[in-house]
Amino acid sequence: MSHLADKRVVVTGGASFLGKHVVRKLQEMGCKDLFVPRSAQYDLTRMEDVVRMYEDARPEIVIHLAAKVSGIGYIKDRPGEFFYDNLVMGTQTMEQGRRCGVEKFVAIITVCAYPKHAPIPFREEDLWSGYPEETNAPYGLAKKMLIVQAQAYRHQYGFNAVCLLPANLYGPGSNFDPSFSHVVPAVIRKCIEAKEEGHDYIEVWGSGNASREFLYVEDCAEAVVLASERYNGPEPINVGSGQEVTIQQVAEAIAGLTGYRGRIRWDPTKPEGELRRCLDTSKAEIEFGFKARTPLELGLENTIGWYLEQRAQGLPCGHAT
Ligand SMILES: NC(=O)c1ccc[n+]([C@@H]2O[C@H](COP(=O)([O-])OP(=O)(O)OC[C@H]3O[C@@H](n4cnc5c(N)ncnc54)[C@H](OP(=O)(O)O)[C@@H]3O)[C@@H](O)[C@H]2O)c1
Repeated sequence: MSHLADKRVVVTGGASFLGKHVVRKLQEMGCKDLFVPRSAQYDLTRMEDVVRMYEDARPEIVIHLAAKVSGIGYIKDRPGEFFYDNLVMGTQTMEQGRRCGVEKFVAIITVCAYPKHAPIPFREEDLWSGYPEETNAPYGLAKKMLIVQAQAYRHQYGFNAVCLLPANLYGPGSNFDPSFSHVVPAVIRKCIEAKEEGHDYIEVWGSGNASREFLYVEDCAEAVVLASERYNGPEPINVGSGQEVTIQQVAEAIAGLTGYRGRIRWDPTKPEGELRRCLDTSKAEIEFGFKARTPLELGLENTIGWYLEQRAQGLPCGHAT
């Protein structure tokens, strides 16, 4: 049995897209003392709420997933909010964890922390070699400061804080609200609606040539749990599938899987972020035995199936960020 099973564990953002899968995996491994602070009760941008959260939950392990997250369009219009909320949420939650003497703090950063011109595949050593892609920078840099904080606290206080850098996530539970969604749910929704309404084209942002690495959300949750169990090092670790695909390839795969037969029209006036993104995922395998298992096609099929099922049952498929 995992040693996490006997620990009091807090998962901030435990009701998020990723968080729900992390919480389920922790429960499956026998964790009984799990606490998920919701933003309505504990607004982690407010230090008094962070303090109260630690008093109420008295965690031994903290997995910090809470963040303001969105697709590129929404971040572009609100860079200040994305910078401030993510910076203070992370900094305060880690600082109070240190003051309360938690045993381990697992921080989820993001691939958006990488420099725009980092060599492909992104290696952890290249994290500090330049400025991130401008649209994502306020979000990526705010989260990246947690790496600095984790390393500084490890050095000065012996605090065991570890940082993970996940690729773009997709899967059941993705946010399908068009104002906030990332590319995979956005294109799934467009294809399904165009098919139902008989439209002969859909529009997708950018040129289609930008590449990304997509990680199935359950695989990411597995990595988070494995790192929480086994990784205690100072260096941030990439978490990805190691598979680089262009947005055009993904859009075409989704069109095929949804049965949409119309055209895909690219809109190059809309932002598409940096041109290439792909992670070197070797350290995650060496350090805590993580290797992504879900092929893209299967992951997309599951995501489409989830979305259709939610809609059929009148259940929500998205939320404001
Ligand atoms: N989605 C991706 O592609 C991706 C990729 C790389 C890394 N990540 C990272 O993975 C983590 C989870 O992402 P996600 O996409 O699953 O997020 P999400 O579904 O958008 O959910 C965000 C979560 O953060 C919590 N939260 C937001 N503001 C808060 C506040 N002021 N106080 C307390 N809690 C707050 C929300 O809590 P409530 O539900 O209670 O409101 C929610 O559970 C984030 O740290 C994100 O940066 C995500």
